[in-house]
Amino acid sequence: MTRRPLVAGNWKMHKTASEATRLIQQLAYSYDDAYAGVDVVVCPPFTALRSAQVTLDFDTNSPLRIGAQDVFWEPSGAYTGAISAAMLRDVACSFCIVGHSERRKYFSETDEDVARKAAALTGEGIAPIICCGETIETRESGGTVAFVTAQIEAALALLSASDAEPVVLAYEPVWAIGTGRTPTPEQADEVCAALRDCFRERYGAAAGEAVRILYGGSMNIGNGDAFAAMPNIDGGLVGGASLEAESFMALVKAFS
Ligand code: PGA
Repeated sequence: MTRRPLVAGNWKMHKTASEATRLIQQLAYSYDDAYAGVDVVVCPPFTALRSAQVTLDFDTNSPLRIGAQDVFWEPSGAYTGAISAAMLRDVACSFCIVGHSERRKYFSETDEDVARKAAALTGEGIAPIICCGETIETRESGGTVAFVTAQIEAALALLSASDAEPVVLAYEPVWAIGTGRTPTPEQADEVCAALRDCFRERYGAAAGEAVRILYGGSMNIGNGDAFAAMPNIDGGLVGGASLEAESFMALVKAFS
């Protein structure tokens, strides 16, 4: 089966609301109809989501879709600083990253937290982009596949087969994020194939074939084509290279 590629820009803690508006306008300007087969998603910080929504509302032809970088699993209540899935839905988010290694590292996010977040998102019709990835020590000890499949198994724990339909997986080796280092495309594909097997075992053959799996970690203009050529890599989760229209659109082009 042919899966629709997806390229998502993880802006992390970059861009004010007005900077986000400008970048989204530049992305729309550099968009080409040749990319129509690719889902293009931008994930600005919470404070820029509303501006992103309004900017895209003005451009009814815009193919860009909006994602968030995190969510809290409760629907509402006394959770100072938290944002619910319904709030994200309200600002037109159709995707949300969960379980990014930076959330796990700096905000002590656990596998159980990731599972609850994924379930809250699917409950609101938002597709979770569930991240996994090993440290360099785990890779060097040969434990990568066991480690990342355990992360994904745990993240899917609360999702039925129908809940899991919109789920996107992202393989992001911790040692490749923001470092300029990457696994070879073949090494990344091998891990993505294992994640696909994990999905297949849990939800059946068709679900395994259909699930979109992204690679992330120092993806850039120079290496995008090689990752895009791999059979189990259906797109990219792009950090640094998503902060400029030219480099982000080059990666959209690589997957188109
Ligand atoms: P990077 O980040 O492309 O800057 O390595 C990717 C990510 O953390 O999603």
